[in-house]
Amino acid sequence: MPINGLLCDFDPGLKSRPCCLGTGPRVNVAGRAKKGKNKEKTMGMLDGKVAIVTGAGRGIGREEALLLASEGAKVIVNDVGAARSGEGADRSPAEQTVEDIASAGGVAAINTDDVSSWAGAQSLVNQAVESWGKLDVLVNNAGILRDKMSFNMDESDWDDVIRVHMKGHFSMSHFAAVHWRSRSKAGEEVSGRIINTASESGLFGNVGQVNYGAAKAGIASMTIIFARELERYGVTVNAISPRARTRMTEDVFGEMGKIEEGTFDAFSPANVAPMVTFLASDEASDISGQNFVVFGGSVWVLQGWAPAGELKRDSRWTPKELAANKSKLFASRSPGIPPFAFL
Ligand SMILES: NC(=O)c1ccc[n+]([C@@H]2O[C@H](COP(=O)([O-])OP(=O)(O)OC[C@H]3O[C@@H](n4cnc5c(N)ncnc54)[C@H](O)[C@@H]3O)[C@@H](O)[C@H]2O)c1
Repeated sequence: MPINGLLCDFDPGLKSRPCCLGTGPRVNVAGRAKKGKNKEKTMGMLDGKVAIVTGAGRGIGREEALLLASEGAKVIVNDVGAARSGEGADRSPAEQTVEDIASAGGVAAINTDDVSSWAGAQSLVNQAVESWGKLDVLVNNAGILRDKMSFNMDESDWDDVIRVHMKGHFSMSHFAAVHWRSRSKAGEEVSGRIINTASESGLFGNVGQVNYGAAKAGIASMTIIFARELERYGVTVNAISPRARTRMTEDVFGEMGKIEEGTFDAFSPANVAPMVTFLASDEASDISGQNFVVFGGSVWVLQGWAPAGELKRDSRWTPKELAANKSKLFASRSPGIPPFAFL
């Protein structure tokens, strides 16, 4: 059934209406052209799952959406199509990802809601449920950048970056959590997944990114809180800090774009998608509340804040006593600014 030149996949097993009927012009659905092709397809890690990837029109999110779909998930490809700094809107990046998923034999639908708007986040989660009956996987990836030194940063640079990253992650996770909790309370066995996108900038504190780094550190922390809150409903919540060459990092990693033919491109954004796909799968059901750095052929699991020294006694310290015992507190590390621990 062609819709805007694309094809609609309808799973007759779902109780909800098919995504291609009466959902309005906002919803384009692309899908496998020939059902016969599926017979030749090997089992995917995400067969039967419904996923949302935010900011999937470009960069890392696009690669995540393509891989999730190739592993069998039906994917809502969300992207407002903003400039790197967050201004403007353009449907074409999201449309391109949907088309590319369809040409590879996968199933996808477009969504151009702003994830940092409460109503936008709700409508995005609703679209997954109305189109395909449920949501299984939420990949929070959309983001913008407005780098400035703290003393040069203005209010809108702070507000917009915090809103898109932190509120965007929170709003999406909130509505996904509402969905999973109600299914779980209705007696269904839920296997929900949230994969957030933090950054080494937030974990280690990058100069010139006080807005972005604060938002990303908040996301790393939010990951652990959501993991604790949603565990009882069958939902895992993890975060990745990716490192890849995209328009967001072209001025940092640009020169590293020159890869000799036949050599491994460690900075390709496609290297990030396998870890996200694994975390989205049933095989990661025992992993939750974790933060990973993902780059090239490396995956690190991180240890969060942990004590590195201690002063302890059964009475209150005076400021002078604390000053006198400073070297004990810092016996195993320098008291100065911690190094940027780029892994
Ligand atoms: N590239 C890296 O090395 C790197 C490092 C650390 C973290 N990250 C994070 O990875 C994520 C993806 O970044 P990227 O490098 O692919 O950047 P990118 O600019 O290529 O892609 C981000 C996408 O998000 C979309 N977007 C922005 N605001 C949105 C909103 N409000 N609603 C919906 N979509 C929106 C943009 O239109 C864009 O297509 C971001 O969260 C970024 O902070 C990237």
